[in-house]
Amino acid sequence: MNIHQALKNSYSLLNNRFNTYKLDCEILLANTLKMNNRLDLFINLEKNLTKKEINIFFNFIKERQRFKPISKIITKKEFWNLEIDVSKKVLIPRPETEVLLDQVSKELKNRLNIQFLDIGCGSGCLVLALLEIFSDSKGEAFDISKEAVLNTKFNLNKYNKSNRVKVFQRDLFKFQTPKQYDLIISNPPYLKNSEYINLSPSIKNYEPKNALVSDCKDGTKFYYHIIKNLKRNLKMNGYFAFEIGDNQFIKLKKLLSQNGFIIISTFKLINDKIRCLLAKKTKNYALQQ
Ligand SMILES: C[S@@+](CC[C@H](N)C(=O)[O-])C[C@H]1O[C@@H](n2cnc3c(N)ncnc32)[C@H](O)[C@@H]1O
Repeated sequence: MNIHQALKNSYSLLNNRFNTYKLDCEILLANTLKMNNRLDLFINLEKNLTKKEINIFFNFIKERQRFKPISKIITKKEFWNLEIDVSKKVLIPRPETEVLLDQVSKELKNRLNIQFLDIGCGSGCLVLALLEIFSDSKGEAFDISKEAVLNTKFNLNKYNKSNRVKVFQRDLFKFQTPKQYDLIISNPPYLKNSEYINLSPSIKNYEPKNALVSDCKDGTKFYYHIIKNLKRNLKMNGYFAFEIGDNQFIKLKKLLSQNGFIIISTFKLINDKIRCLLAKKTKNYALQQ
């Protein structure tokens, strides 16, 4: 079987399930053949596959038929122009999270020697991108999940940046430090249980629930804890950068303002929901709620 035939067969196996079936098959085949670019397939259409390659490729297609996300099959995701490895038990980095980085990079572009903290580092995508954006920055990152910590360390090692970030396993609700940072960034779990129930099987079956679900009430538990308890760990004129859930902005804006912060920028999704916010510490006092 050559590349042309493998593609044709695989298209027919996925075309009734995914609008992106062609792209999906091409990514999976390029990955099987360890090609850097799926376009390489089309200049090698006559090339024959080995038995092993055919086996691997059609097993990938079977996984996709069960709605497994492409990044979970190939265990990689492109994020901020970086190739982030993602293990089974960490969240696949999302495009919205890149927007959060965009806000941060624009606002902090003239700052030197940024010291950052990433809460709930998952795959390590935010950490790796921050190191890339701010070439003299250093940071710390933690996650409650051991797999996430290992995954972040793996990616740091892959890019030869382990010496710039300390990564450790910790529960946010038990975390304390005397350190002061310029930036505390977090994309914490922010869904309510009721929102989780309605997610697609490709998310529920393949993404870790504890990376997504916050609490039964309104999903803001993590932000309340971070803002109230870690504001003192931000330097004056330091920033909180958060990805947030639907309908959480008004509450968080009020809470931030009560704790001495002003909102610098927000990002709205196409459905008009605010998904990312950047807030600056402008006062050193805090009204208690
Ligand atoms: C939405 S994921 C974000 C992962 C990554 N930062 C990203 O943007 O793709 C949330 C992360 O928070 C971690 N997490 C959940 N509960 C936590 C807790 N109590 N303390 C620290 N991390 C926690 C999860 O393990 C998960 O990796």
